[in-house]
Amino acid sequence: MPSAEGLEGIAAEVRVCVLCPLSKTRKNAVPGEGPSDAPVMVVGEAPGANEDQQGRPFVGSAGRNLEDLLSRAGLARSNVFITNVVKCRPPGNRRPLKGEMDACHPYLRRQLETIKPKFVVLLGDAALKEFFPDSSLASLHGKPTKRGGLTFVPMYHPAAMIYNRSLTQTLEEDFTKLGKLLRSG
Ligand code: URA
Ligand code: SF4
Repeated sequence: MPSAEGLEGIAAEVRVCVLCPLSKTRKNAVPGEGPSDAPVMVVGEAPGANEDQQGRPFVGSAGRNLEDLLSRAGLARSNVFITNVVKCRPPGNRRPLKGEMDACHPYLRRQLETIKPKFVVLLGDAALKEFFPDSSLASLHGKPTKRGGLTFVPMYHPAAMIYNRSLTQTLEEDFTKLGKLLRSG
């Protein structure tokens, strides 16, 4: 039952959530952070070790890469709401399971309904599959795609920048394009 609504109410529920087995191995749940009127919401895959330690999203090296990409769209980290498909770290950073993603989905849905961002950036294949189960990043990356009253922009995951030079260039181009979309609408 939604109690205190608003982002803080949702975050408070997430921090004590036991709806899936990831609650047993997490140190801290990571609800997400950012302003309630953010024009852009960024959805990653899942917290990693640093995020689990600190209870904040994208604080490791993927976070630095994300901040660099956001700046190409003319955005600071503090302008966007940053969260993940699942709010608790999967053991060993494995990909979240379908049952975990389904259990956690209502939190993401409520965050989307509260913020109503202009654009929802989906980072990586897990975030893409959450909303477009039959689509691939190869075909949808960088393309604004409407569904259920929201505009999604799928992107490759910034973790790929660590080992893949050509994906880095694609990510940089796609974030530059996002900046143009923001300024034009
Ligand atoms: N990778 C993600 O997908 N999310 C985080 O919060 C950190 C790294
Ligand atoms: Fe709850 Fe989501 Fe954490 Fe699972 S991953 S325990 S559903 S907050």
